Amino acid sequence: MNVRAILLAAGKGTRMKSARPKVLHELCGRSMLWYAVSALREAGVDEIVVVTNPELDPQARALGLRTVIQGEQLGTGHAVQVALAALEPRADGRILVTNGDMPLVRAETFVRVLSAAGENELSLVTARMPLPSNFGRIVRNGQHVARIVEVRDATESERAIEEMNAGIYAFPEHHLREVIARLRNDNAQREYYLTDAVALSAKTNRHAVPVAADDYEEVLGVNDRSELARARAAMNRRICERHMLAGVTIIDPETTYLEPELTIGADTVIYPGTAISLQSSIGRRCTIGPHTRISNARIGDDVTIRESVVLESDIGPGAVVGPFAHVRGHAILVGENRVGNFVEIKNSRYERGAKSAHLSYIGDAEIGEESNIGAGTITCNYDGKKKHRTKIGKRVSIGSNTSIVAPRTIGDDALTGAGSVVTKDVEPGGRVVGNPARPLR
Ligand code: UD1
Ligand code: MG
Repeated sequence: MNVRAILLAAGKGTRMKSARPKVLHELCGRSMLWYAVSALREAGVDEIVVVTNPELDPQARALGLRTVIQGEQLGTGHAVQVALAALEPRADGRILVTNGDMPLVRAETFVRVLSAAGENELSLVTARMPLPSNFGRIVRNGQHVARIVEVRDATESERAIEEMNAGIYAFPEHHLREVIARLRNDNAQREYYLTDAVALSAKTNRHAVPVAADDYEEVLGVNDRSELARARAAMNRRICERHMLAGVTIIDPETTYLEPELTIGADTVIYPGTAISLQSSIGRRCTIGPHTRISNARIGDDVTIRESVVLESDIGPGAVVGPFAHVRGHAILVGENRVGNFVEIKNSRYERGAKSAHLSYIGDAEIGEESNIGAGTITCNYDGKKKHRTKIGKRVSIGSNTSIVAPRTIGDDALTGAGSVVTKDVEPGGRVVGNPARPLR
């Protein structure tokens, strides 16, 4: 497409009152910068350069982004000058310029503003907004934008204009290079305003074509934490909407916290107070929540997870987890498992049908098919220095309150009595009881 984008992000963002650069603040689990970059990529932009300040720069680079540092923030026009100096000129290129603090802008909006710009005209996104507003005002000349006036430089009648400059522009590259060199800072803020490019272009008969945003909330910038919370709510609603339209029932989108890169199968029902994050995927016909946290987990079809926490783990089809379970650290439940109240499972594998229904800690263990772990079972995996593994065979019955002092192997069809402290391996079919556990004759 030969379109490059300049993402303006060097502003100090002082109203965030934060040690963290503004565009790195997060909503729904991703930074404002992430949303801007993702939407630009989705819109087919070939290359993005982020205009940063010295604090933001190393962090933006660490995210794999191309950056250019604007040492002193002399205005949006100056920021674009700095970026253009770093981009090798292309004769027939287009340049999209957008603000880094507008996480709600959709890829379609970038596509629309790009297609409205021509060989001889620039285009920009405008939005009608309730007054008062701090956005730059659009002064029209019929179908075109004659100029943009910043609030601080506006007359009373200009302030009454309800059509605003969103801060998203598409330029033919050769024209942007030519006009950007002519900006002056003779205004209220003594800044080089990118917005002045519009009036300067009109002088040489290059029109500015307005492209109306679908709704003004899409282009609201985030300047403080209250606006961040509002943007989060809007983004969350948008993500929930997408899954609901794809066949997921979300009982209460307001109290369901989703992130942008999830997959959720049709006919899954999500109950309130549930947060699902990072690269999680959830199968079809699942019941998730209420009050459940799932992060970076793969959940199969027909799984139920209630009032539980599942982190970095895989839960296979037909499993039932919770209430009040904690499954973490690359645990794998192969399928048809039952994990109940107050059970913590870490870095362990449960084969098909293996169960632990109550009050257990199972860490660094393998549990064979159809084995049952009784209430109160603990795998004592840590000797104070090292972690050790526990292997439990198929169809094993671990009695209530068994402690298994790892490393230990318990053979297929074995059984431990209630209260056993297992300090030696148990043969297949063996039965042990006591502390320390001894074979029953
Ligand atoms: C700008 C527009 C205004 C528009 C509004 C939309 C100008 C002069 N005004 O105003 O018409 O309605 O955006 O949100 O452009 N930045 C830099 N370097 C700088 C200054 C700013 O990178 O020297 C970046 C900021 O980080 C921010 C963006 O540019 O992402 C916009 O800057 P900001 O100061 O917020 O401009 P506004 O006053 O909001
Ligand atoms: Mg702003």
